[in-house]
Amino acid sequence: MTISFGDYLDAKFLLDERSLNRDVKAVFWAALRSRLVLRVLDLGCGHGATIRRLLEEPLLGRLDITAVDRDGDLLDKAYAATVELLEQREYEVSKEDAFIRAVRDREVTTVRFIKRDLKEFAPGEGEKWDVITAHALMDLLPPAFILERLRDWLAANGLFYATLNYDAGTTLFPAAPDADIEGAVLEYYDRSMSRTFEGLPCGGAHSGRLLHRAMLAKGFEVLAYGSSDWSLTPFCGRYRDGDAQCLEALLEMIWGEASRSSLFDPEALKAWYAGRLAQLRQQALGLIVHQIDLLGQKIG
Ligand SMILES: C[S@@+](CC[C@H](N)C(=O)[O-])C[C@H]1O[C@@H](n2cnc3c(N)ncnc32)[C@H](O)[C@@H]1O
Repeated sequence: MTISFGDYLDAKFLLDERSLNRDVKAVFWAALRSRLVLRVLDLGCGHGATIRRLLEEPLLGRLDITAVDRDGDLLDKAYAATVELLEQREYEVSKEDAFIRAVRDREVTTVRFIKRDLKEFAPGEGEKWDVITAHALMDLLPPAFILERLRDWLAANGLFYATLNYDAGTTLFPAAPDADIEGAVLEYYDRSMSRTFEGLPCGGAHSGRLLHRAMLAKGFEVLAYGSSDWSLTPFCGRYRDGDAQCLEALLEMIWGEASRSSLFDPEALKAWYAGRLAQLRQQALGLIVHQIDLLGQKIG
């Protein structure tokens, strides 16, 4: 990619923020606000976007976050960003290796960072969480298999808030004059998301709907769900926030997948990519990506 994965995550923070489904988010935060102690596990925390969101909400009392990711560089970024945010908010921050403790009046916040692949991750003896979050992750995991684990890791009536789950639909605007090649490229892009985890098929391009089905099958009540589509579109003639960078990275990912396959005529593909890139430079390209947010509660 022309930008690092960490910079791409930074560029999409505000896009994600305005895309999160408002109603699902409201139910989630309403359930948390009255809790005096909140234990949260953030899966695939990346550079710490969900930690930031948790710290920006007015929560009562004690907040203990465990953040897991397999990428050490992203975890370092998440650690530094969390310290900075807490210090800005005038917490008294004490730091140990991969652990932060922050105190402000009666509020105590701890954040523990764990570098581990989720294939190997397991809670400590008797450890439970009130909330598990997964933001832009479930396409990389097999929904039913993971939900069985999460059910065990959650305390009674615990919540699983899974956001920005891709659900097949990537559309570029304006509609292409040569819809054949673009249709095939986008179809191939969806197919390229078919991966396995522990030998099982991941949510991939249909992670939103598969996660919804798995929640119903694996002992969760779906409290709320709805679309959280990305609208990377020129707004009054200009891109918003980090959208231009995100759009370029996404276009490059779509083109990159197609260019590694032998299915496409390289010249036609190059012409298609160059045309879309030119539109991007003129702030004339739009991209809408269909995604779903889900809030499930462990039954019992
Ligand atoms: C698309 S990024 C999302 C990061 C972050 N949640 C956000 O939205 O900004 C997916 C993250 O999941 C992590 N990840 C993917 N598969 C993983 C696995 N099997 N175990 C641990 N982390 C994983 C990646 O390293 C990456 O940081």
